[in-house]
Amino acid sequence: MCGIIGLCFNKTEELGKLLYKGLQRLEYRGYDSAGIAVLNSGRLFVVKGKGMLRDLEERLKFTEYTGSTGIGHTRWATHGAPSDINAHPHVDCKGFFAVVHNGIIENFDELKKWLINRGHIFASETDSEVIVHLIEEYYRELGDVYEAFKRAIRSLKGAFAILMITPLEENKVFFAKKDSPLIIGLREDYKVLASDIPAILDHTCSVIVLRDYWVGYVTPSRVHIEDLASGKPIDYSTYIRLIEWSIEEASKGGYPHFMIKEIYEQPLALINTITGLRSSREFPLVVKMLVDARRVYVTGAGTSYHAAEFYAIASNTLTGLLTIPFIASEYEAYVNAVRDGDILIAISQSGETMDVLKAVRMFKERGARVVAVSNVVESAIPRESHISLYTRAGPEIGVAATKTFLAQTLLLSWLLVELAEYTGAISSSEHRELVKSLEESPRLVEVSLERSEKTAYELSEVYAEKKSMYYLSRHIGLPIAKEGALKIKEIAYIHAEAYPAGESKHGPIALVESAFPVVFIVPKLVWLEHSTKGNIEEMKARGAKTLGIVCDESPVVSLLDHVITVPCPHWLLTPISHTPPLQLLAYYTAIRKGLDPDRPRNLAKTVTVE
Ligand code: F6R
Repeated sequence: MCGIIGLCFNKTEELGKLLYKGLQRLEYRGYDSAGIAVLNSGRLFVVKGKGMLRDLEERLKFTEYTGSTGIGHTRWATHGAPSDINAHPHVDCKGFFAVVHNGIIENFDELKKWLINRGHIFASETDSEVIVHLIEEYYRELGDVYEAFKRAIRSLKGAFAILMITPLEENKVFFAKKDSPLIIGLREDYKVLASDIPAILDHTCSVIVLRDYWVGYVTPSRVHIEDLASGKPIDYSTYIRLIEWSIEEASKGGYPHFMIKEIYEQPLALINTITGLRSSREFPLVVKMLVDARRVYVTGAGTSYHAAEFYAIASNTLTGLLTIPFIASEYEAYVNAVRDGDILIAISQSGETMDVLKAVRMFKERGARVVAVSNVVESAIPRESHISLYTRAGPEIGVAATKTFLAQTLLLSWLLVELAEYTGAISSSEHRELVKSLEESPRLVEVSLERSEKTAYELSEVYAEKKSMYYLSRHIGLPIAKEGALKIKEIAYIHAEAYPAGESKHGPIALVESAFPVVFIVPKLVWLEHSTKGNIEEMKARGAKTLGIVCDESPVVSLLDHVITVPCPHWLLTPISHTPPLQLLAYYTAIRKGLDPDRPRNLAKTVTVE
């Protein structure tokens, strides 16, 4: 969604530059408009507009603004189209208060009507603007900025991370949080607030991850936090954490885009996932929970849903324990069947996706226990789950998920291997073999990348001209096909659909004509390689141009127009061996089309609305 940043500072000269840098780090969360507000010598300056951050900098010169205190926002539009007026920060009628907001105010319509009746004049179409007018309204009544701020926050329904500054209290940034992420970075001499860790790392590794319904303010030397409902101050010392990510990890490190950097970081990401699992106290507990479960559900959104589907197919096949996958936003279709003793595995890279969070809450209400699988420690979904496992893949900034998908599927595979041994579904020698293969997964992804680089680059020239594609597979390859189709759809804007290969003849094949591109994902399962042969023939007979991601010595190689062969130690490692070529294909196709793969249109990295 949107990214917000706040600085309560003493180096007046650098304020604009640091706000701009913070917004650059948060740009992956939204990039249709941006703006800043700064306080300088008792005056409030607001500058904002529609467009990409670097273009806005040329036009509006954020970096030239100086002052002691400032807030900034980079937007992914929800209410109100991207425009100069709808960009944040928003100000009240008199220009005393400036607010940035990430989230959605559900009751903004009724609040807006009430405020208009009381004489407020709205400049934008956003839901967020009601917040600043509410503060103005209550300040008129109460004459105290902090009390007015808190009363305004209490009137809001929905999700929010809010920052507010005012010349009435020049050295403070006021904040409030519910359901949207907000972090305070702590330094002796100043404080920084941001939606996410990468924007804080330029300043400090010491952070407080704020909890829902916390409000307060920071000054350069002090933090005040209280619970909104009780008004009691929070002793935040027990909430201070040291972030292990380095600033290098959160920057491009010589690569032209975050996406390609993160694709090539996958071996390292997997090493870190493995190291994390080895030292995890929670991991064996989760295995035990799964053994005792009445029924297991697994959910996620987008790429994380593909990891969920992978887990379900692998669980049914390897352990014989039925697992039910569902897309997080569809939880209503499943929740009525949930009972005590059920388990929900909730997968989310960011740990903040609202659809997943909603599913977690609903399943908990029905008595399920929830296991979170996330990449971001102490994010909302782990916090609301009973137990959490972390992928530890490092920060993922590219909007398209890459390394975190491999890390998720590795973690989930490991869980299943332990579960399968525990329940006797596999022998201890099979268990040993599988663990060895999982340990070697960093090398596997390295080889897969090496082998696919050239073909992916060459074929991207062909695919860049295409409007539609199919990605076909069976069984454990199907979530990988879906992931490949999602990647090329979201960053190269090619309409791509993934189907079970057997299903393709029941309708989708009608679209296939001369040179129609069809990508086959063929994992190492003898029956699967055999039955896919017929599907390749069916497509070729209609003129399709086929590419296969296949295992060494696969019997389908000779049938395909183009081939990328990868090593396949076991079908369970299919995501590790077969996904990297699909990521490269999508990346290079986007580049050929002159698109920015890190900032695909209409998307945001973290989706904190339903
Ligand atoms: C696809 C992509 C999205 C996310 C989805 C869930 O490349 O990035 O589809 O996978 O929004 O996000 P998380 O995993 O953070 O819950």
